[in-house]
Amino acid sequence: MKILAIETSCDETSVAVLENDEVLVNLISSQEIHKKFGGVVPELSSRAHLQIVLPLVKSALKKSHIKKEEIDLVAATAGPGLIGALLVGLTFGKSFAYSINKPFFPVNHIEGHIFSGFLMDEKPEYPFLCLVVSGGHTLLLNGESPVKIFQLGSTIDDAAGEAFDKVSKLIGLGYPGGPNIEKQSKLGKDFIDFPIAKLNSKYDFSYSGLKTAVLRYYQDFTSHPENYKEVSINDIASSFQKAAVNALIEKLLLAISEKDFNSISVVGGVAANSLLQSKLKEIGDKKKIKIVIPALEYCGDNAAMIGLRAYQLFSEGLVYDYETNAFPSLHNNTFITKQ
Ligand code: KG4
Ligand code: ZN
Repeated sequence: MKILAIETSCDETSVAVLENDEVLVNLISSQEIHKKFGGVVPELSSRAHLQIVLPLVKSALKKSHIKKEEIDLVAATAGPGLIGALLVGLTFGKSFAYSINKPFFPVNHIEGHIFSGFLMDEKPEYPFLCLVVSGGHTLLLNGESPVKIFQLGSTIDDAAGEAFDKVSKLIGLGYPGGPNIEKQSKLGKDFIDFPIAKLNSKYDFSYSGLKTAVLRYYQDFTSHPENYKEVSINDIASSFQKAAVNALIEKLLLAISEKDFNSISVVGGVAANSLLQSKLKEIGDKKKIKIVIPALEYCGDNAAMIGLRAYQLFSEGLVYDYETNAFPSLHNNTFITKQ
């Protein structure tokens, strides 16, 4: 089965072609236009998707040596995401599927991330503990099967990636926050003690206290430089990164101590973080549990994961029609159950 998949939920336009669950081509075009605004501007994002989606589809078909008539199924992200951006990919996908008279699959973006580890040769094994750490979501989940996903916890305020982005902007490291913080952290030391939130619900996350602590520290650092002669911005970045990553690791360790999982998969943009990855490797070695982190091109937003998710759902016997619509929130069109 040949699948054409489209992802346009935020600031990456991505098109992939898959043969069943094998990726033939995965093209990603990142929108540079947002850099000068320090964050994603929704309307500019929609326009940029509109300009690039057709050339990208043509290029993906050409690179995979597949004619459009040979496509068996078309998939596109339907949500959650920026509504204008979503509509571009979704409408394009529906029209394309209709024009070649093939089925269309709307895919939940977060479900795409959750199963992105299955794009790797070494796949997660069910039941797997999944930590989704993206720019918009932080979720801890129990993946029991492709259609049985239980939410154990989520952030009560900022998402992990959002915290990286906001702190980066705050301390003058700009956009994109996560990669910039990681880069500068390598030049600094993590000796500043920033707090990790303690919450009543044991699997939930919170980043607002950490963000405020960094803000206060930075304000004092800039207004009283004489007191901070031994401290650099890189040290602040590095100390923030340590606290942000430890907050995630704490919950992962708690979950595997309370329930038996056959593997752990950490997915989404923040999964690209090398400190997080090294801590996960340590856990894997120490606890003898399989850890699956998607390759870099599958951590951030990509259409390959959307195609794979459509393939999984098709294999489960699901069908959709062309009437499907875009949705902005997580718990629409999803197999994730809140526990
Ligand atoms: O999954 P993703 O590409 O888009 C969403 O669905 O949100 O995640 C983007 C997020 C951004 O917040 C970005 O700052 C963060 O992932 N990110 C990172 C790194 N690379 C991207 N955060 C920490 N370290 C990184 N290396
Ligand atoms: Zn994403």
